[in-house]
Amino acid sequence: MGNLTLHLLLCVFVVICTAKCPKDWAEVGNECLMFSYDRQTWSGAQAFCRSQLSYLASDDTAAKHTFIRQALSVLDGAKIKDFFIGGNDRVFEGQWRWLETGMPITKFTAWAPNSPSTNMTLAMKQNCMMLTWVDNDVYWTDHDCSDRRGHFICEKPVSSVTSAPVVG
Ligand SMILES: *[C@@H]1O[C@H](CO)[C@@H](O)[C@H](O)[C@H]1NC(C)=O
Repeated sequence: MGNLTLHLLLCVFVVICTAKCPKDWAEVGNECLMFSYDRQTWSGAQAFCRSQLSYLASDDTAAKHTFIRQALSVLDGAKIKDFFIGGNDRVFEGQWRWLETGMPITKFTAWAPNSPSTNMTLAMKQNCMMLTWVDNDVYWTDHDCSDRRGHFICEKPVSSVTSAPVVG
């Protein structure tokens, strides 16, 4: 399924696609989100986001989580599931932080049951956050960063788009 088709699906069923965000990006709050149908490792995903002047998304408010769940519900219908986002505990085991801010995750959380893993063998190699369906809801899981099967969500502030210099 092409990017355009996905974009239309998201626009029609989920989001108000306004001019504030670039084409193929959805607007929520003051941020623009891009849902990939490509697959990458967590680092590969972050490299792609950075090339788009963005970062792996922070799922840091209930409102944004609800929005992401709606979008993932549409994508799930296209068999596109399991999305890397910016949460990680790569620096200090067990200290989960958002890539965007480097700040510990404290306020809003959406961990799946039994996540993050308390089995140290698993916990040591599952340092990257992935959004996964459990029953009928979207939750965070701790996932192997080197797994190449992750789709991913990039994010950037609306302000970074509107204040960008016009080229050409
Ligand atoms: C922890 O996970 C490893 C790898 O899956 C497994 O071999 C081990 O039995 C688990 N340990 C416990 C205490 O469950």
